[in-house]
Amino acid sequence: MKAIGIVGSPRKNGNVDKLVQTVLDGARDAGFQITKYYLNEMEYSGCQACGFCKSHDHCQLDDDVSKLLRDMAEADAVIFGSPIYFCLFTGQFKLMEDRMYSLIDAGFNTRLRPGKKAIIVTSQGNPEMEAVEKAATDFAGILKFLGFSVTEIIRMTNGGAPDAVLERTDLLDKARSAGLALERSG
Ligand SMILES: Cc1cc2nc3c(=O)[nH]c(=O)nc-3n(C[C@H](O)[C@H](O)[C@H](O)COP(=O)(O)O)c2cc1C
Repeated sequence: MKAIGIVGSPRKNGNVDKLVQTVLDGARDAGFQITKYYLNEMEYSGCQACGFCKSHDHCQLDDDVSKLLRDMAEADAVIFGSPIYFCLFTGQFKLMEDRMYSLIDAGFNTRLRPGKKAIIVTSQGNPEMEAVEKAATDFAGILKFLGFSVTEIIRMTNGGAPDAVLERTDLLDKARSAGLALERSG
């Protein structure tokens, strides 16, 4: 079993990174082989809308996200993490998300095999969770369209300081449990 984590924050070891890592630690303890991607350290372009992926089963671009997408296709579980920037996921994350268009065929059916699990991790400065809930909820809809079963959404609030999540043992516990549960959650 394979689980990959994707960190869409430029802050390495920030709140999203720590929560994604905690989910991955749980997954590793449940028997998964784990890998983590830092989007901010990768070189990649946004979708070029060339349509190549509708006549072929992959994206025409060959860059760091191409490798990530191949890994995503193989993985049993994917942990998608991004902070909230201006009420949305980061630009780094959105460029990757648009490239996931290549996971859909010309008939708008997913190319991913069934049974994949996904967990979404977000962090925001705003203390009110409801203020920017939409980004994760909308992304969960995209993941369901792609055939993922979204087993958990973990939302950090008041995350201005990069290590604020260390005070949120409830969220760290939730992240670890979500990782451990990946094996059995359906
Ligand atoms: C460019 C930028 C835009 C942001 N926009 C928002 C926002 O719209 N709402 C919010 O609650 N926090 C916003 N924040 C705060 C981050 O979401 C918050 O610090 C988050 O916890 C960062 O996660 P990280 O520690 O994983 O990097 C913004 C931060 C930056 C740098």
